[in-house]
Amino acid sequence: MDKKLRIGIIGCGGIAHAHMRAYLEIPEVEIVGGADIVPGKARKFLDEFGLTDAKAFDCATDLLKCELDAVSVCTYNSQHAVCAVEALEAGCHVLLEKPMCLNMKEAQAIYEAEKKSGKILTIGFQPRYGANFQQVKEIISSGTLGDVYYVQTGGGRRRGIPGGTFIEKDTAGVGALADIGCYALDFAMNSIGYPKPLTVSAVAYDHFGKNPKYYGDAERFSVDDFSAAFVRLEGGITLDFRMSWAMHMDTTGDFLFLGKDAGLKVKQPNLELWGGAWDGTVGQITLYHDMCGKPTSTVIPTGTEIKSNLFYSKVKAFTDAVINGGTAPIPTSQILYNQAIIDGIIRSVACGHEVETDLAFLDK
Ligand SMILES: NC(=O)c1ccc[n+]([C@@H]2O[C@H](COP(=O)([O-])OP(=O)(O)OC[C@H]3O[C@@H](n4cnc5c(N)ncnc54)[C@H](O)[C@@H]3O)[C@@H](O)[C@H]2O)c1
Repeated sequence: MDKKLRIGIIGCGGIAHAHMRAYLEIPEVEIVGGADIVPGKARKFLDEFGLTDAKAFDCATDLLKCELDAVSVCTYNSQHAVCAVEALEAGCHVLLEKPMCLNMKEAQAIYEAEKKSGKILTIGFQPRYGANFQQVKEIISSGTLGDVYYVQTGGGRRRGIPGGTFIEKDTAGVGALADIGCYALDFAMNSIGYPKPLTVSAVAYDHFGKNPKYYGDAERFSVDDFSAAFVRLEGGITLDFRMSWAMHMDTTGDFLFLGKDAGLKVKQPNLELWGGAWDGTVGQITLYHDMCGKPTSTVIPTGTEIKSNLFYSKVKAFTDAVINGGTAPIPTSQILYNQAIIDGIIRSVACGHEVETDLAFLDK
């Protein structure tokens, strides 16, 4: 490649550092600049990495005038859609942090901007790049389980409400259900081939976040800290979703995949994290099957995952796709289904009954 890939970073907070570390390991990349609405924050961020020649802006619009090839959107959730759409309209490929956005109106706007631009939009689900994560999909795709009819998502934190911009409606929009819930949904849905979600019935609570006994910043807390949902997927598959930032329990359970021929149980590897978080890495995988007519279980060998490598892999997959004219490593066709479940959970919680997913715009 003659010319380096010109990259900008929109939103220069916590996770932008992980994006930057990964970009700086990729020789084909040049960091052109960064933008953050907090005055001086982009400059400080770039200087931290010794990028004193890179340009700093207080507004993404100005950064997007720098003839960039691609951007990482690392803003808090409520700014994902507006920044992603603006970047696509400016002709940039976009690596958008998770969750995609807050609702289906925003998701549709991103989807349409992506289609119109002909650029790549991918999302920051780095657990996808884990070998054990991929192995679960391989086992299920191989047909070992037969038709899968029930999936349970698992994990959840015992005490792990984050702080900063994660706990207010204005910035985060939603709490645990989308923050770490989108990962759990991606693992469950990706493993079974992302069938279309049809209906969602959900509940959400804030018993810990709003209680100063458990959370020091309770007055500021305005999102959910626990959610559960019953989701009907195309093909007669049920998805049982649970996600927590805080609860009086170590886990909401393991990931379960029930098939007509066999079942798969996937444990969290790091129960000591956050008092029981599913952090995206995959622990023990056990196959439940019959052998000679007898119920049998077989532990599938797994490897050790290194989280920082997952992050590098996600950024590298994005830059490789841009450089080689490839397609989005994690395509909108899947992300929209993930977002439609989150959107369904939010609407079902608000109205108190089951709702249909809002994906009709895809049929137009
Ligand atoms: N993939 C992961 O492992 C991972 C981990 C943590 C966070 N995240 C995601 O990354 C996003 C950011 O999280 P964070 O921890 O970095 O939050 P943060 O609050 O530390 O950083 C967000 C930054 O975006 C800036 N910002 C907001 N709106 C902007 C706009 N319109 N233009 C320019 N800058 C803007 C804010 O001023 C802030 O500095 C969230 O969506 C979160 O879900 C992903």
